[in-house]
Amino acid sequence: MGNESAIGIHDLSFATTEFVLPHTVLAEHNGTDVGKYHKGIGQRSMSVAAADEDIVTMGAAAAAPIIERHGSDGIRTVIFATESSIDQAKSAGIYVHSLLGLPSATRVVELKQACYGGTAALQFAIGLVRRDPTQRVLVVASDVSTYELDSPGEATQGAAAVAMLVGTDPALVRIEEPSGVFTADVMDFWRPNYRDAALVDGQESIGAYLLAVEGSWKDYTEQGGRALDEFAAFCYHQPFTKMAYKAHRHLLNHCGHGVDEDRVARDLGLTTEYNNVIGNSYTASVYLALAALLDQADDLTGRAVGFLSYGSGSVAEFFAGTVVPGYREHLRTEAHREAIDRRKPVGHARYRALHEHSFPADGGDHRTPAESTGPFRLAGLHGHKRIYEAR
Ligand code: CAA
Repeated sequence: MGNESAIGIHDLSFATTEFVLPHTVLAEHNGTDVGKYHKGIGQRSMSVAAADEDIVTMGAAAAAPIIERHGSDGIRTVIFATESSIDQAKSAGIYVHSLLGLPSATRVVELKQACYGGTAALQFAIGLVRRDPTQRVLVVASDVSTYELDSPGEATQGAAAVAMLVGTDPALVRIEEPSGVFTADVMDFWRPNYRDAALVDGQESIGAYLLAVEGSWKDYTEQGGRALDEFAAFCYHQPFTKMAYKAHRHLLNHCGHGVDEDRVARDLGLTTEYNNVIGNSYTASVYLALAALLDQADDLTGRAVGFLSYGSGSVAEFFAGTVVPGYREHLRTEAHREAIDRRKPVGHARYRALHEHSFPADGGDHRTPAESTGPFRLAGLHGHKRIYEAR
């Protein structure tokens, strides 16, 4: 990083939904051996949004503790990354900006490139801080993952938001140069504007992800990045946690290391704890992996962590971060566990009803049932406008 000041993740906080559907319930409903879910794809449960929750309520709930701890001084930009957008024009970040009471002297924008959007937001934030090191950027990555009921993708749904404060002299992780980047025009997963649920070619998407791992690692190496052996752990995008294992084995093979399962477990083992019970949170997933790693690992001070962010369609980026001395004093481990443990199990019929729930498009006054108990809720829709409330 030369003589330039260190920039990276100063604080990280996540939020998820009111409800959770255990995979045992899904398996019982569709007659699948639960081993396919627990072992085959590596998922135990998935977060399910209540009728009065969405990407805004989760994003605001993730970001509120950051603003409480650090205030809003120096935050002149909010970048909201999502691929489950609620509006084709207005940034979901503006609702979050309003719910958090951030100053009007702020630019707010929404970013999209499938699950890669959170990493684009982080990298763009670093660029802004590099230009003016007195500024800090609030990055929010928030998604509700939705596939068709009774489709193979159904077991890989989930929902969560991660908020990160990006600035100089970060308390958690310094993000390093260089990055390895990769783009390929593939139709592995997409969601046309007229659809709520994503379309996906499951096997093609796995192949496209592995190709992107190779491509972004190749560019990372060519840009003068670290050697594979220098990393203490790897945070992969986790559409389902077994995907991280597939990707890492692929990378090891590609680099001529062979696949030593002890090494794979050591490199990834602690990164899957949250995604395993939350499910796919798209843009947030790679940063939930980081939260799980930091919250559980023995001291990682000074160690390098590799990040592989993949967004279908497809764009990928491999980059490194170094864990900062004293980082453990700034973690939110207890709050993260509470966000997961407070979820209420939901029955299969209720889950399906929530999955199919949508507002009528008639511009009328539609209230949502008060189901959620988090700090923010979607109270309803009035004249085509979403109405949010803080508790
Ligand atoms: N016990 C243990 N394991 C079992 C089992 C059992 N009883 N039954 C099956 N399995 C194993 C299978 O052997 C398989 O393992 P391998 O992949 O190691 O061979 C695994 O469970 C899954 O089985 P299938 O491949 O038969 O599962 P499927 O066809 O029903 O679908 C899926 C799996 C393609 C991931 C599907 O859930 C899907 O389409 N998901 C959405 C797409 C996705 O997540 N793609 C990931 C890459 S794209 C991306 O990362 C972007 C993004 O966020 C979407």
